[in-house]
Amino acid sequence: MTKVCIIGTGEVGTALRNGIEKKPGYEVKTAPHEPTRVRDAAGWGDVVILAVPLSAIGEVLKEMGDGAKGKILVDVTNDFGEETPAISRAEELQRKAPDAKVVKAFNTVFAKHMATGRVKGEAISLFVAGDDPDAKREVMDIGRAIGFLPVDAGPLKNSRWVESLGILNVKLGFGPSNYGDDIGFRVVGVTP
Ligand SMILES: NC(=O)c1ccc[n+]([C@@H]2O[C@H](COP(=O)([O-])OP(=O)(O)OC[C@H]3O[C@@H](n4cnc5c(N)ncnc54)[C@H](OP(=O)(O)O)[C@@H]3O)[C@@H](O)[C@H]2O)c1
Repeated sequence: MTKVCIIGTGEVGTALRNGIEKKPGYEVKTAPHEPTRVRDAAGWGDVVILAVPLSAIGEVLKEMGDGAKGKILVDVTNDFGEETPAISRAEELQRKAPDAKVVKAFNTVFAKHMATGRVKGEAISLFVAGDDPDAKREVMDIGRAIGFLPVDAGPLKNSRWVESLGILNVKLGFGPSNYGDDIGFRVVGVTP
C-alpha cells in the first residue's frame, strides 16, 4: 500500500482525497489546518501532497519538521504574483526541503476535475516534473489511478513551464476568453 498524506482540506485536498482514497493500492490520510495533525500525517505518509496556498508552504514545512525527510513532496501550487520568480516555486520548495523529493503536479488542473482526471468524460493530461525518477513515477501512478493521462514533464527545473501552464489554465477559464472551468489540457501522441 502506498500511503498518501494530503495536507489541506480545501478544494484541492478534498478532490484529491476523493480521487485517490478508494483506489486499490492506496491509503489516504488528510490533515486539516492543525499543526499536530499536519506533523503526524506527514510522518505517516510516503507521499505528502501539499494542497495549501503558496503562502502557507513555509508554515507547513515547519509543522512537518523531520516528517519531510525522504518523503515525496507534491507541489500543486500556482503563483498569481505580478513578478515572474527567478526559479520555479517547486525548485524553491526543494531548496527549503533538501531531504525531500519534490515533484510538481496537479497545478494545471481545476480542482473540480482532480477526483477523476476527466473533463466532460475525456481524460486530461497530468504534467509531472521532478528530479527523482522513482518519485516522479509514483506521482504519475497516482495520477493514472485517478484517471489522468500522466505526462513526464522532465526534471524539476521544468516546473517553471508547468507552472506557466497552470496560470494559463486559469487565464483561459476566467480571463477575457472566459471558457470557464470545464476545460483541461491534453497532450496527444503520448502513450499513457
Ligand atoms: N482550486 C483549484 O482549482 C486549484 C487548481 C490547481 C492548483 N491549485 C493550488 O492548490 C492549492 C490549494 O488550493 P485550494 O483551491 O484547495 O485552496 P483552498 O480551498 O483555500 O484550501 C486551502 C487549504 O489549505 C489549508 N491550510 C492553510 N494553511 C495551512 C497549514 N498551515 N496547515 C494545514 N492546512 C493549511 C486551509 O485550511 P484553513 O481554511 O482552515 O486555513 C485549506 O483547507 C493552492 O496552492 C492553489 O494554487 C488550486
